[in-house]
Amino acid sequence: MSTAISPTAYNYKVVRQFAIMTVVWGILGMGLGVFIASQLVWPQLNLDLPWASFGRLRPLHTNLVIFAFGGCALFGTSYYVVQRTCQTRLISDSMAAFTFWGWQAVIVGALITLPMGYTTTKEYAELEWPLAILLAIVWVTYGLVFFGTIVKRKTKHIYVGNWFYGAFIVVTAMLHIVNHISLPVSLFKSYSAYSGATDAMIQWWYGHNAVGFFLTTGFLGMMYYFVPKQAERPIYSYRLSIVHFWALITLYIWAGPHHLHYTALPDWAQSLGMVMSIILLAPSWGGMINGMMTLSGAWHKLRTDPILRFLVVSLAFYGMSTFEGPMMAIKTVNSLSHYTDWTIGHVHAGALGWVAMISIGAVYHMIPKLYGREQMHSIGLINAHFWLATIGTVLYIASMWVNGITQGLMWRAINDDGTLTYSFVEALQASHPGYIVRALGGAFFASGMLLMAYNVFRTVRAANPAQAEEAAKIVVVGAH
Ligand code: HEM
Ligand code: HEM
Repeated sequence: MSTAISPTAYNYKVVRQFAIMTVVWGILGMGLGVFIASQLVWPQLNLDLPWASFGRLRPLHTNLVIFAFGGCALFGTSYYVVQRTCQTRLISDSMAAFTFWGWQAVIVGALITLPMGYTTTKEYAELEWPLAILLAIVWVTYGLVFFGTIVKRKTKHIYVGNWFYGAFIVVTAMLHIVNHISLPVSLFKSYSAYSGATDAMIQWWYGHNAVGFFLTTGFLGMMYYFVPKQAERPIYSYRLSIVHFWALITLYIWAGPHHLHYTALPDWAQSLGMVMSIILLAPSWGGMINGMMTLSGAWHKLRTDPILRFLVVSLAFYGMSTFEGPMMAIKTVNSLSHYTDWTIGHVHAGALGWVAMISIGAVYHMIPKLYGREQMHSIGLINAHFWLATIGTVLYIASMWVNGITQGLMWRAINDDGTLTYSFVEALQASHPGYIVRALGGAFFASGMLLMAYNVFRTVRAANPAQAEEAAKIVVVGAH
């Protein structure tokens, strides 16, 4: 077989770049997670340096794990999926390359500016205006590459995974641009165009839909491609996937006010957010069931295939966190959970259990195909990674439930004369064992990522990328 790269082959170069950076940023972001988790156990680790303090490193952690690790996984898999399901090459190699380098530049910008203390102070939208503008340009280019490729597809219909990726791209652009409208006063300082309760509402409309569209809808696109592929079964119900899509995107957008219960936001808006969040359980579980049931007749594969295990367990955590979320959105429950570690546990049930696990499964699936290998260097190491990730996630979320409920109950306990039973510091002391367990769980999860890096390195070293592209070309040609 000729190893010359044909122009009709898929553009795997950009997918490879994003796949490798998913692992690199995963290690850095999660490593930093372990560090800030340790700061909460041993405050001396703040090192008395402003840039190393918890307050500055926490937003760096969230930016690295969500946008660098999660973002690279989404870019890489969406480029892979859109090409294969549309049986055509990306519309432009140079635009795709720009999205890769532009995205890395934004992340490096975050790595420098956040520890220096430059921040808009809006959670998950901390980057100051020059970086926010660069991000918007990269994102619009991403949209052009993705939808342009869909337009020139060689297949009749658009596979459902692309619908989810498409919605994630469009809505993320809308959220980012609207929430970032601000007045710059210097190179590193801007003021939001909104104020007061309106500012809070716009911010949590953004924040919640960052969860709904960035951390959920994009990864559901991943689920719809990689679960059937790895299980070698068609998706359980195509009709359910269409209902799932429309119900999910219609409902998510209204649920933001559950982040602002008992605040200055009008009461009706809070109640609307609560009701919409509870209804959201239905499409979330519809999607989870569609993914799980795809394994009908293939459950035995779980015994031997750790990649499939990553994908299926991620769906289980998705189901769990989307049950927990609607419960926490109920005002009376939120009055206990809000401000406590329960929220942090919920976040990481979604972030580690769902987002990270499905991304890891997808990357393990793609790497051998991108580098012209039969399979990953070591299946045993994938298995070890799977257990480290699962045990790590369980330790993390279980300790945060215990901490969260303890804190909520201690804060609201009052004596007969109306004074507080416990001081804040007593609740903090009670949380200390939980923080140790969380840091341990995080260390389990992050060390699994190191095994992944080694496994990917060994697979890539023995690779034949030209052959992978040639094989891809045969798929394209064979389709006609
Ligand atoms: C080794 C893995 C990880 C560890 C040890 C870790 C640790 C932490 C810690 C200690 C915090 C601060 C909690 C607080 O303020 O009390 C945090 C916040 C956060 N982390 Fe992680 N994390 C990890 C992985 C991830 C991943 C993979 C994601 C997303 C994909 C993620 C998303 C977040 C988010 C969104 C927050 C902010 C939560 C909030 O404000 O409610 N983390 N993490
Ligand atoms: C039906 C689905 C879901 C609903 C209704 C929901 C609901 C909620 C609620 C009520 C809160 C607490 C708000 C507060 O007290 O401040 C919350 C926080 C959060 N959830 Fe969810 N959740 C859902 C799914 C998910 C998933 C799948 C993920 C992650 C992949 C996730 C990530 C987060 C994050 C990051 C926060 C913390 C936001 C912050 O305060 O910084 N959620 N969610």
